[in-house]
Amino acid sequence: MPDYTDILVETHGRVGLVRLNRPKAMNALRGQLLSELLDALKAFDADDSIGAMVITGNEKAFSAGADIKEMAGASVVELMERAMSDGWQRISTIHKPLIAAVSGFALGGGCELALLCDMIVASQTARFGQPEITIGVIPGAGGTQRLTRIVGKALAMEMVLNNRFLSAEEALAHGLVNRVVPVESYLDEALKLAGEVAARAPVAVRLGKEAVNKAYELSLAEGLAAEERAFTLLFATEDQKEGMRAFMEKRAPVWQGK
Ligand code: CAA
Repeated sequence: MPDYTDILVETHGRVGLVRLNRPKAMNALRGQLLSELLDALKAFDADDSIGAMVITGNEKAFSAGADIKEMAGASVVELMERAMSDGWQRISTIHKPLIAAVSGFALGGGCELALLCDMIVASQTARFGQPEITIGVIPGAGGTQRLTRIVGKALAMEMVLNNRFLSAEEALAHGLVNRVVPVESYLDEALKLAGEVAARAPVAVRLGKEAVNKAYELSLAEGLAAEERAFTLLFATEDQKEGMRAFMEKRAPVWQGK
């Protein structure tokens, strides 16, 4: 493993775990942290022994967002050169499922990072918000787009324009998170969920993730066509043959990832 300063990396069976590790700064997302995160996710994505990844912070903060101290004095050109949005965009190119295990604050870029993940397990203490308006800006990493598509215009406007936070239960009610669990077990639950997904047919998981994400980008007709192509493509895999044969032979399938 490379020598990271801002994250900790572990493996739990077929699950890669990345812990954001700037506890004194509420896991603020400085450039260094983002580039280490991307590096670790890409390494797990390329590793056949890993099937899914979990991103977490600590009990108090998943992440309080972009590092305001790093960002405050930046010029427009510096911001463009840092290509912050490019870094975020690259996280969305990770093929394997990403699960966010969120406890405490998920604010600004922290909320946006959770939204970039494919599923979110929240502790009862999780709070989601886009407080950028309180520092004179707006979300810059998907908060006006991904959030709005999930919670709808009314609530997104309140969050973006008036710093409205969502409790874990509200986030669940609005479809932002998959489940809410006691703070003692949020990470274990996320690792368990990731472990289950990681044990499934890898190529189907990859294409399933891609297809669901396309629902947010394409028209229904284009999305259905993309789904049909992906479904058909899976008939070229050994895992499709094994999965269907195992069903008929009434036994558990053994996946090859091929
Ligand atoms: N950037 C840099 N430092 C941060 C930070 C951030 N986003 N959030 C917290 N910190 C630092 C604080 O400055 C403080 O450091 P010092 O001890 O050196 O003063 C330390 O973390 C602890 O924070 P607090 O003392 O404020 O802790 P608290 O429990 O009283 O409050 C909080 C917690 C509500 C999360 C509060 O820290 C806060 O409001 N943070 C900022 C949240 C925010 O505005 N996020 C949006 C950032 S902009 C963005 O993300 C743009 C984008 O879309 C990409």
